[in-house]
Formats: sequence, C-alpha cells, structure tokens
Amino acid sequence: MDRRCFLSWGTGAAGLWLSGCGGDSGMGTGPGMGPGVGSPGPAAGTSPPSALAFAPPPVASALRTGNLVELTLTAAPATLDLGNGLAPEFWAFNGSVPGPTVEANEGDRLRITFRNRLPLASTIHWHGLPVPANQDGNPMDPVAPGADRVYEFTLPAGCAGTYWYHPHAHLTTHEQVFRGLAGMFIVRDPLDPLSRAGATDVPVVVTDLRLDAQGRIAPNTGFDMIGGRIGSLLLVNGRIAPRLAVRDGETLRLRVLNACSARFLELTPGRGAFTQVASDGGLLGAPVAGLSSVRVAPAERVELLVTGAGPVGALATLQTRAHTGAMMMGGASSPAANVLTLETISGPAVAVTVPAILRPISELPAATATRRIVLTGDGMMSSFAINGRVFDMGRIDAVMRRGEVERWDVVNDSFMDHPFHIHGTQFQVVSRTASGRTTPEPWLAWKDTVDVRAGETVAIKVRQELPGLRMFHCHILEHEDAGMMATLSVVDAP
Ligand code: C2O
Ligand code: CU
Ligand code: CU
Repeated sequence: MDRRCFLSWGTGAAGLWLSGCGGDSGMGTGPGMGPGVGSPGPAAGTSPPSALAFAPPPVASALRTGNLVELTLTAAPATLDLGNGLAPEFWAFNGSVPGPTVEANEGDRLRITFRNRLPLASTIHWHGLPVPANQDGNPMDPVAPGADRVYEFTLPAGCAGTYWYHPHAHLTTHEQVFRGLAGMFIVRDPLDPLSRAGATDVPVVVTDLRLDAQGRIAPNTGFDMIGGRIGSLLLVNGRIAPRLAVRDGETLRLRVLNACSARFLELTPGRGAFTQVASDGGLLGAPVAGLSSVRVAPAERVELLVTGAGPVGALATLQTRAHTGAMMMGGASSPAANVLTLETISGPAVAVTVPAILRPISELPAATATRRIVLTGDGMMSSFAINGRVFDMGRIDAVMRRGEVERWDVVNDSFMDHPFHIHGTQFQVVSRTASGRTTPEPWLAWKDTVDVRAGETVAIKVRQELPGLRMFHCHILEHEDAGMMATLSVVDAP
C-alpha cells in the first residue's frame, strides 16, 4: 500500500505537522508480516527533511504548596485527529500523547490523583523512581475502571534524572502503552551542573504507532506477541521526525526516553558526535564524549549533548539505524528511521563548557549475596519465563534483604534480546559476558533497565532501600505480559 498520511493532532493551524508516513497502514495485520517488514515509515536518508516543528510534550499542570506538588492524571480514550480522514482513538493521559511531562524537584512530595476512565483496570507505575512499593502501581494494586486513587511519594535527594510513567496492569500493560499511555517524569536538581552551564533542555519521548487499514490503532498480531510490537511510524513527542531549531554553537541536552514496546534505538547524530551525560538514574560521573552511535533499548533513557553547527539553514538529521535484536524469523528487528532534524537558525548562542565532573557516583559495596536470573522462551516452543516460571501474581519468586547489596547474573538463554528492568531502585552494571568473554562495564552509571542480548549474561549489583513487593521483568511489554516477569519481596533484616 502506498497511502500517505498527514499527522495533525494538537491545536490550531500551527499544529499541522506533516509528514509522508510512507503508507503501510495495512502492515502488520496480515499473518507473517512481522514487525519491521514492509515500509518502516520515513526511511533513514530517503525521506525529505521534516516540515513538522518540534514541540515538547505539555508539562502536567500542578499545584505547588511548599514542597508538596499535587496533580491529576486522567487516563481516558481520546480521539486525536491525524488529518487525511484519520482520527484514531488513543488512550491518553490528560488527552495528550505522549502524556504530559511530570516535573518536580528533588525533595518534593508528590500527590498524584489517578483517574481511571479507561474500559479496563489500570495503574500508574513510576518507572525508575525509588517510590514506596505500595505507591508504585504494581499489577497487584489495580485501579478499577471509573475509579480513582492517589499515589503519594517523596523524591529523595540525589534522584534527579529522566524517568517515566506508564500503566502496569496485569496482562494489558503492552496494550495500554501502545494505545498511548506513557509520559516523561523529570526530577530536577536546582544545582544541576548542565543547566547552570546553559544547556537547553529538550525532552525527546520516542514512541511508535501502527494503524490498520481503517486508520485505527492496530491490535497486536500473534507475531507481535512473540517478537514484540514495532509500530510503523516512529514519533518524537507525537510527531514524525520533527524539525528542531538550534543556534550555531548552542548545546542541546536531549533527554531521550525510548517508550516503545519493543523497538530498539541505535541513535546516530547526523553530524558530529554525541556526548552522553546521563543514564536511567541521572547524571554520569563524567561526560562520555565522541559517541557516533548510542543504543537505547525499550524503557531506557539517555541524556545526550549535541551542539548546533553550521550556517543558517544547515540540517543535521538524527537517525536510528536498523537494529536486529532477534534471530528468529527476523523478528524484533527495528527498522531505520529519522528521529529528529536539527536546523540551524540565526541568533547568539551561549557557549556551554561541559563540566569534567558531573557528580560523584560511588560504586556499590561488594555484594554479600548472589542470584542467578535466567530469561528463557521463544514464545513458540516454550513460554517467556524467568527461572523457568511464567509470571504468577500470587507467587513470590525471590526474597531480598533491604539494604543488602546483591550480585545478579542475568542470563539470556533465548534467541532474542531482552531489556531487563527492576522496580524501585537503580543498579550498577558490573560486566557483560558473551561467547566466553567478559567485558567489564567501562563506566559507573545508575541503571534501572539493561539490555541483555541473546546468549549474553549481564552481571549487576543491586540494592533495594525500601521494603515491599517489586517487579522485575523484560521491558519488551509483550514479553512482560506473556510471563517474563517475577515478584521480588524486599524484607527487613531479622
Ligand atoms: Cu517500565 Cu515494570 O516497568
Ligand atoms: Cu519500572
Ligand atoms: Cu523480552
């Protein structure tokens, strides 16, 4: 099919953002049409420069009283006009896809009212944040359709960074997210060295979308349930490869969130190189410069500095290269696509001196216990499971003492990459072992999600500071819902 479509949701004429979406609305609905097969939307290097202006997601409006920040997130169906006769119904937080960005400071107390106006049970999970277990939107704590609940937690010192929120409902997380429910959560530190140095903050929420021949959000195919759903349109803050104005010499701090169900990103800068300054849990110890590509697995976040360069009108297109994360049936291979076009505009720019030290990160102490986590399943011959068990909400799979450092060897005994995520804390990657070779992690960073490639073992050190039930799982959401998830009980030392 070679139907073109024009995205235009948002308000007013200025909100008409267009891009040829490469057609394919029928893709993925036929048997055997795997994700990534057919037209991947704007192919890297071949699509015309985007005409859509970049816009950040709206910021969630909040009421602040001292350190208390109160806001409401309502999840409800919302029809958003895509133009060209296409107006699919999304499920949206506060009518926006992606959801509004929640912004707060370290030390703030958040009181967030969740209004579930969806036709099914839901929750909100605060991905990566150290919130109490009973406030973290576990599948065991569903909010019924039509019901409300209040989530309340304090953001501790040292947690500044780029996080996100999304539903975590039993068996339906993947569908709730691919229908539009996900948003960024930025925790700020007023003393952040990069904002003080003058870097321009740019939220980049990457999602993907697949419509059926009728222009509705397509349901998952059987294939998606194995390889993971990969949409045919790659969107940044809801727009296709939008064009972001940058001044010659201006330094942008891209806060990239991969909120796709299963698409891996392999970002390339188009010109120059990236400097990575942060990972899932906030700033790195020191910037890592000179990166010609950066991988961002589903659910991961990275913060990247790029500097505008060249005469007025110069373009640089950030792209994602094709990534093959699976070996079966060509599944879960993520196609190449344009992500963002930087266009140089006139005007003076503040020269940013990137500090050599961003913040101290100390290595977690030596582990006093070890645990082996084996990820298995190909979805066909065997189910997606952890340590041989398919997720069961009524079962506790692991018990860990609060405050104790454990070493987890996460073994991927399958043919696909699995981004492995633990709730409630940030961990440190120690090393990766593949084909008998162990590579120590080159720098210290706080992570809540790490890609474990097919056949690879990733060693991490993890500590949980808060008691209660925590999930750990693959963040390819189809795998999570198929059972590649387990429950960790964090207990006080006797
Ligand atoms: Cu992003 Cu269990 O979550
Ligand atoms: Cu999480
Ligand atoms: Cu997986």
